[in-house]
Amino acid sequence: MAGLTTENLAKARETVALYPQARSALIPLCHLAQSQEGWLTPEAIVQIAELVGVSAAEVKGTASFYDMLHTEPVGKYLVGVCTNIACMLGGAYELLEHAENRLGVRCGQTTPDGKFTLEEMECLAGCDGTPCVAVNYRFFLGLDNGSFDRLVDDLDSGKLEAQVPAHGTLSRVPRQGGLRTDGQEVLAERAASDQAIAARKAAAEKAAAEAAEAAENSEKKS
Ligand code: FES
Repeated sequence: MAGLTTENLAKARETVALYPQARSALIPLCHLAQSQEGWLTPEAIVQIAELVGVSAAEVKGTASFYDMLHTEPVGKYLVGVCTNIACMLGGAYELLEHAENRLGVRCGQTTPDGKFTLEEMECLAGCDGTPCVAVNYRFFLGLDNGSFDRLVDDLDSGKLEAQVPAHGTLSRVPRQGGLRTDGQEVLAERAASDQAIAARKAAAEKAAAEAAEAAENSEKKS
């Protein structure tokens, strides 16, 4: 199993440098590692932990909380059939059964060639085209057995490479940089903000004291 490549290690270090706190880069680094292998390998988890200064258990604990991050191998295509209420009424369970037969695996399993992982998913926000299927989070609405088979054939033959990149690919054009913040600039902005807050507080206290004095003078006069 592989850790981060030299190129991705450099990208990871660059990503960490974008954040005032290294641990804030934890999730972006998980996505980076997943984009390399399609899942988070144990080696990558250890590297991420070292890069952001937490334990490997913390990285795994965080990654396992999020459905879109995988700490076990995933097929090139993660096929999710939504079985939530609208899709269920639209025949999702029948389609899921067909998908299991077509791919030759049960829900949660990966085909022996490592190409397809089949999953049952919650609402994918495609309720107007049921049943809804997501392949690597690209949506295909209103599928029946025939159109599902055609989708699998097209994925298998590579016809949809451009539309559905391999699992883990988040963007066709990865970002090369980010918002770099000058630490001194941040400190200066915070100091200016503190000053403005203190000035507002002093003005409010002064106004309250003047109001109290005016009320007292008015009482004395009467
Ligand atoms: S219920 Fe399936 S997409 Fe909403």
